[in-house]
Amino acid sequence: MKKILILLAAVAISLQLLGQERKITSTMNNDAQMKKFIDELMGKMTTEEKIGQLNLVSVGFDVTGPIVSQNVEEKIAKGNVGGVFNTFTPIAVRKLQEMAISKTRLKIPLLFGYDVIHGHRTIFPIPLGIAASWDLAAIEKSARVAGDEASADGLNWVFSPMVDIARDPRWGRIAEGAGEDTYLGSRIAQAMVRGYQGNGIGQNNTVLACVKHFALYGGALAGRDYNPVELSDRTMFQEYLPPYKAAIDAGASTVMTSFNDINGVPAAVNEWLIDDLLRKQWGFTGMVVTDYTALNELVAHGVAADEADAAAQALKAGNDMDMVGEVFLNNLNQHIKSGKASMEDLNAACRRILEAKYKLGLFQDPYRYVSDDRAKQVLFSKANRDVARDVARKSIVLLKNANNTLPLKTSGAIALIGPLAKNQRDMIGNWSGAGDWQQAVSVEQGIRNAQKGVTINYAKGANITDDKVLIQRLNAHGGNLEIDTRSAEDMIAEAVEVAKRSDVIVACVGESQGMTGEAASRADIGLPGRQLDLLKALKATGKPLVVVLMNGRPLTLPWEDQNADAIVETWFSGSEAGNAIADILFGSYNPSGKLPSTFPQHLGQVPLFYNHKTTGRPYGGDMLDKYKSRYLDVSNEPLYPFGFGLSYTTFTYAEVGLSATEISATDKLTVKCRVTNSGSRAGEEVVQLYVRDLVGSVTRPVKELKGFQKIMLQPGESKEVTFVLTNNDLAFYRRDMTFGTEPGKFHVFVGGNSRDVKRAEFTLK
Ligand code: BGC
Repeated sequence: MKKILILLAAVAISLQLLGQERKITSTMNNDAQMKKFIDELMGKMTTEEKIGQLNLVSVGFDVTGPIVSQNVEEKIAKGNVGGVFNTFTPIAVRKLQEMAISKTRLKIPLLFGYDVIHGHRTIFPIPLGIAASWDLAAIEKSARVAGDEASADGLNWVFSPMVDIARDPRWGRIAEGAGEDTYLGSRIAQAMVRGYQGNGIGQNNTVLACVKHFALYGGALAGRDYNPVELSDRTMFQEYLPPYKAAIDAGASTVMTSFNDINGVPAAVNEWLIDDLLRKQWGFTGMVVTDYTALNELVAHGVAADEADAAAQALKAGNDMDMVGEVFLNNLNQHIKSGKASMEDLNAACRRILEAKYKLGLFQDPYRYVSDDRAKQVLFSKANRDVARDVARKSIVLLKNANNTLPLKTSGAIALIGPLAKNQRDMIGNWSGAGDWQQAVSVEQGIRNAQKGVTINYAKGANITDDKVLIQRLNAHGGNLEIDTRSAEDMIAEAVEVAKRSDVIVACVGESQGMTGEAASRADIGLPGRQLDLLKALKATGKPLVVVLMNGRPLTLPWEDQNADAIVETWFSGSEAGNAIADILFGSYNPSGKLPSTFPQHLGQVPLFYNHKTTGRPYGGDMLDKYKSRYLDVSNEPLYPFGFGLSYTTFTYAEVGLSATEISATDKLTVKCRVTNSGSRAGEEVVQLYVRDLVGSVTRPVKELKGFQKIMLQPGESKEVTFVLTNNDLAFYRRDMTFGTEPGKFHVFVGGNSRDVKRAEFTLK
């Protein structure tokens, strides 16, 4: 018997090895076949045809820069285009692809890209919202659904994930990323790439992911979009670069360079960044695309004398595709002739683009992403909307819930107030171009769907903003802001009257989606317009006040925090917004989201993030203590810390247990903490693990996230949550910029947010 088992095991192992070997040989074959195919193809290509591959054009809408692509069809027919973005649907894609195949000499298929940022047709919460779920499986699922829909709609390339760490909520694009933390951001970046690329590029339902914006775009000075980024090497490597690297390690096929300059050198001509760091050090072999007209902008940056100069610098730095600006198309031929640009660089760029097309299977079948049947089956399907609803409710964060104001009763009258209460347009947020906002579920509709027994008394109460210039600007870019022309006072008076005849107030307030995203920085991050006045008047009625927030950034909410009975952060929750919000309001889903970004008390504290340094004069809380790192007029504390979010139940944390109090560099440390659901409802908790290195050769943050687990607990149930810390988790960029650990004392913290934690300590020998 034993012999048979050994024999079977040996057979199994050799089969496994054989399988592995086959896999390796088949990838080698694929690589070798791909090389052979591309060598042959490039052997036939003229310089002009190669340059044509480097040109990415847009077909018109979603214009985010000063230039719009012209005569696209003519250029495709002439072989002057390698890829197209901003168009989708099988019919539109087929038409352009046919043109490339039938009209060009070498019949090279086109890439079709699009900003699929938080869903394609079925829209998920904005990325900052998705991040608040801290649920990697749900996040991956959202990207899978998006990839499935995009590929059914003719696309083969998505400009996502956006992994820029952002610590300044003034920056409108904080909405597009995973917030302030390196560890959380890195894990999410990987989940998104896995979701888009599925089991591998080349199936008809997967798409190329594009990691952006490389790099450090989120560090824009003063939170103003496109502003320069000044970061020390240490901060850059320690805090800002890891999410890009994580996405690349997860297999992301393409990278988009960013608009900003990095310590003086714009990313698009930053040879160190693209060629050295990304390609040589990180081993990235995929394609690099510029951002929208970023090469033309090198002239305005003042690093290129003219576009011809920009073309030479950008190719040398390692960009492959030029988005919209046609700087490569218009200048490279001349440069190749004069020797200002090398044929070797052009060949390398062209090859990487052709490789992407090859891997997608486009040379075998240029129409493999064009299927009316799949489109009908997949796009905005019930199944996808169910996933969107689930992700949306997981993303919602309960910020306050005094006296168990929530969940709401399923009877009685609700005063449903606010400019976002009946709103559909803003629910799908920014960068949701293929989403149909008219299909989005408003809060009002969501409540009606969920609770037939409640009476809804509605009043708008306020406009999102009354700033005429701002309204004009937002509406010029798809804002659809409907402005009530009554006076603010009349609108507030009506809302107060409605509140008085209701049992509870649900006030849906916040930003318009266009106040977030690209080119949407704000210098004041409070509720815009007269919405705060509206809330104050509602509060004065004495009725319980539930504030439902919709916004794309951390807001300053000091009055709201003091005075509202409950506050629910819903971000812009996507196609299923109203249903997901109703699930939370009535308690059919118990909130489990946690903030991926610190909410400051006051704008003057910005940038404010949990993993800050102590300084040499840390403030200890004594108001009379003058010479300390603090403000005179506001404390150093956030309003809501990173990782914060309440539940309708409560969780208690036991003391933290460690497997050892002393470890060596090769040891692993096991951290255990028992978490109990001490309330009366089942609920999920995100258990968070932080560490602090007490003494280093360089100053170290007061806490750094190193792990988290989202667990479900029934009332009274407890679970022991186990984390394993390795040497790598304790490593950092030391004084000499090598990455590694240093011996000494560490603190380990476990808790339900970055502030309220239990602590243990150990020594690294
Ligand atoms: C944005 C990118 C986007 C590109 C294409 C740019 O303005 O910065 O994030 O992918 O436009 O739409």
